[in-house]
Amino acid sequence: MEKVSGNNFDKGFAQWLDYQQAPWGKLRYRVAQANLRQHLPPSPARILDLGGGNGLDSILLVKLGYTAVLIDFSLEMVVQGQKLAAQEQVSDQISFEVGDATQFVAGEQFDIILCHNLLQYVGNVTAVLQNIHQMLRPGGIFSFIITNPHTETLAYALRDYDLVAAKENLNKSTKYVETFDTHIQRYTDDELKSMLQNCGFTLLEQYGIRAICDFMADNERKFDPDFYEQLEQLETAVSNKHPYKLLARFYHFVCQK
Ligand SMILES: C[S@@+](CC[C@H](N)C(=O)[O-])C[C@H]1O[C@@H](n2cnc3c(N)ncnc32)[C@H](O)[C@@H]1O
Repeated sequence: MEKVSGNNFDKGFAQWLDYQQAPWGKLRYRVAQANLRQHLPPSPARILDLGGGNGLDSILLVKLGYTAVLIDFSLEMVVQGQKLAAQEQVSDQISFEVGDATQFVAGEQFDIILCHNLLQYVGNVTAVLQNIHQMLRPGGIFSFIITNPHTETLAYALRDYDLVAAKENLNKSTKYVETFDTHIQRYTDDELKSMLQNCGFTLLEQYGIRAICDFMADNERKFDPDFYEQLEQLETAVSNKHPYKLLARFYHFVCQK
């Protein structure tokens, strides 16, 4: 994998914001929150959001009474996260730091650690998972979201009718991400589950996020509020069910130490 830096994410911020505001971006955050709420300890509790970007996940959580520390190596993400926290009037509950998540070692242990769509950009995933395990208090909750390579193959074929791309995609271990101009590493859920287990985590539940939306070609319809509402309800209903969770755009593992 090529070296990726905060600069890649600074430059991609405008496109990232468009994604977050689109129905498929909204679904990613809404379904993740619904999954997480099944497992979180009652507030007050301390959250560490590693590679937390502009803070959408943790800002939603601090509104429930938690406090959070967000670490990200993109200055633009951090600045935009601080602005969003101010707009949402939660600045006193969340602090933002510019830092490298692969090097970060906190002086405290956290009740909840989020690592959402970070580890596909990182070379040594096991080292980061081991570090997360150390920073989590015994009994604490670890929420881990990462891309599912199988969905891309299916979406090329079923949504785009691009069978050549689907076939080419089958055995690729990396994928180019235009928004951040870099390649990501891809892992199957078996590989990820074995890494989690080897690092000492107990898997409480495996979810999938966006098992339906990404196979629908008609993006316009997803902007219709009534259609979106039904889609979100369906996505939430299938997020922990076989076989849907195995086909969803993102794997979401909720673990305990
Ligand atoms: C796809 S975004 C996800 C952001 C956020 N977790 C979310 O799901 O909304 C990936 C984030 O990871 C950050 N990142 C990637 N590698 C990092 C590293 N080594 N240290 C800190 N942040 C990193 C990027 O700056 C970016 O904000």
